[in-house]
Amino acid sequence: MSAAAAVAVANFAKRLQGKVALITGGASGIGEETARLFARNGAKVIIADVQSESKGKNLSEEIRSESGQQTTYIQCDVTKESDVEKAVNTAVSMHGKLDIMYNNAGITGKYNTNILEIDVEDFRRVLDINLVGAFLGAKHAARVMIPKKRGSILFTSSIASVTNGGMPQGYTASKHGVVGLMHNLTVELGKHGIRVNCVSPAGVPTPTAAKAGGVDISEIQKGFYSMANLKEVNLDARDIAEAAMFLGSDESKYVSGVNLVVDGGFNLRSAMAD
Ligand SMILES: NC(=O)c1ccc[n+]([C@@H]2O[C@H](COP(=O)([O-])OP(=O)(O)OC[C@H]3O[C@@H](n4cnc5c(N)ncnc54)[C@H](O)[C@@H]3O)[C@@H](O)[C@H]2O)c1
Repeated sequence: MSAAAAVAVANFAKRLQGKVALITGGASGIGEETARLFARNGAKVIIADVQSESKGKNLSEEIRSESGQQTTYIQCDVTKESDVEKAVNTAVSMHGKLDIMYNNAGITGKYNTNILEIDVEDFRRVLDINLVGAFLGAKHAARVMIPKKRGSILFTSSIASVTNGGMPQGYTASKHGVVGLMHNLTVELGKHGIRVNCVSPAGVPTPTAAKAGGVDISEIQKGFYSMANLKEVNLDARDIAEAAMFLGSDESKYVSGVNLVVDGGFNLRSAMAD
């Protein structure tokens, strides 16, 4: 194989070569795994998370050394418009563009499924982070993507967007809201060449899921496996990162308005199934 062909093959294998991606909630769990996968596939990644500068800087340094890609951390609370605006502006000032905006930051809130006991402030906080934060990310991404006439806006919704019961009201409402936002943005932004999609995971072993379930992180897969439709495999954060990479890459260049549910078919099972 010629040197030029070898470079072409290596670049083909890197599915996000030359792309700039901003990932909210990128300092842990699904967002962290996605940041690592995106960087390994040639993207320059900006991680925006509310966690401390020192944690974020260590993580971005680690990703930079494992991938060779420039990776940046910016402390950002997605409920604050000025923080989100600054994160998007950082991507553009550092790299000249933003190709992929992954609105992934989210919380479950207090795990309580009894509406009579749910505190309205907890309900509001969950909507503020999961839905308002996603809206702000999409708004500022659209601001810089529209003039370029391209871009991919992604959200992490949840299996709670296609199932009912078993999760707190605020969480389910926020994740349905994210899918509604994604659908409406798909229609609005298509004329600008911008695609908009969601990834909706089932139970993934992450700190949020462990806290919500009140269990150790190592128990999540066992717990979900017992209910799962698809057997002989477990869902982990890498599977969600792979779905996000497909939707962020040019491999999905005509895919928009999709809620890609990564649940091994769980949501299709009825209570009557054996
Ligand atoms: N883990 C699961 O089983 C599961 C299932 C379905 C959907 N999800 C969704 O996946 C997304 C990622 O969750 P995860 O499971 O990786 O959890 P995680 O706790 O590992 O990561 C969430 C990240 O979001 C950050 N974050 C929280 N509030 C923020 C804010 N105001 N501003 C910026 N960042 C903030 C946290 O600091 C954390 O780094 C969430 O939207 C969650 O609802 C998770």
